[in-house]
Amino acid sequence: MDVVVIGAGVIGLSCAWRLAQQGAEVTVVDDGGPAASDVAAGMLAPVTEAAFGEEPLLRLACHAVATYPSYVDELGGSEVVPVRHEGTLSVGLTADDRAELARLTTYRDGLGLRTEQLTRRDTREREPFLAASVGGALLAADDLSVDNRAVRAALRAQARAAGAEMLTGGPARLQVDAGRAVGVAVGVDEVRADVVVLAAGARSSVVDGVPEHALPPVVPVKGHVLRLRPQPGRHGPPALTHTVRALVHGREVYLVPRADGELVVGATVEHQGLDDTVVVAAVRGLLRDAHEVLPIVDELALAEVSTGLRPGTPDNAPVVGWSAVPGLFVATGHYRNGILLSGVTGEEVARQVAGHPPSALWQQLGPRRFTLQEAHA
Ligand code: GLY
Repeated sequence: MDVVVIGAGVIGLSCAWRLAQQGAEVTVVDDGGPAASDVAAGMLAPVTEAAFGEEPLLRLACHAVATYPSYVDELGGSEVVPVRHEGTLSVGLTADDRAELARLTTYRDGLGLRTEQLTRRDTREREPFLAASVGGALLAADDLSVDNRAVRAALRAQARAAGAEMLTGGPARLQVDAGRAVGVAVGVDEVRADVVVLAAGARSSVVDGVPEHALPPVVPVKGHVLRLRPQPGRHGPPALTHTVRALVHGREVYLVPRADGELVVGATVEHQGLDDTVVVAAVRGLLRDAHEVLPIVDELALAEVSTGLRPGTPDNAPVVGWSAVPGLFVATGHYRNGILLSGVTGEEVARQVAGHPPSALWQQLGPRRFTLQEAHA
């Protein structure tokens, strides 16, 4: 079977890898533009990020985090893809922030998610640099974090090793013949395919040539992310060892530490279309909130400022399944969970493309769930 995957972010590459492993001739086409996968912070935090009313997504995310270590093993092990196991601390700065966290904790407890309330003292022992105004914390010990750029690089290497070809050029254009997807054109190149996998992240709803009724309902959701690093020549204990997710006067900020001392701070949630401009107010807001939680950030170097476009969907869950156009498979809409769900998505796409029905965790996550007809069925 010839398959073309549109998109070389972690989702497209994971699909390419698994499809090539099962014997497909795979070509990945990409416009070479920035990928949200490289901007992400790498939180693998289904427990801490569980939100009201997102149970199908939560079940999938919990499965993904439980199987992440074996996914990393297949990608070359933790030397290649560094993973952290300290867990996530949720903290609130004000009484209102703590009340909101308590409300979420009650909901998460009701779902059977494992968390542990830490006293102020336990919290300080674990994270001595947290601001004095941060009291205790809620520990989600099963949450992980990962170096997201390493995940993408390892996926690219594995996909190539399994035989996938990479074609980087201009924007892809789907080719449809007699109502069926038959390939993809990129500039002057044309690649014929039995199956096309649309995995173009936030750009999935603007890919040329896809008939309107098959476009997934994906909207770009911009996030500013900062990368802070120790100043050259300055050595000391790490600013953090756990991921910290904080509510600061009702605003969310998270800080994700890497073993080399880098601290990734994110992220804004903005609906600005495909605009990925870095804006001063957003950076200032993130730094202000990070500083309120962890004053020592002032001593770090501001190494990188970037924006990524998350592929948002109406219910915040991914869209994975056959589209209304025969031959066109959709794997997008991973919104805030692309790094976490990349492994399980690649496996599921390979399964379904091979002719299997959706597996249990994916049954409610197909593209047709958004059509009126299905909603009324
Ligand atoms: N998963 C974190 C974010 O999307 O900002």
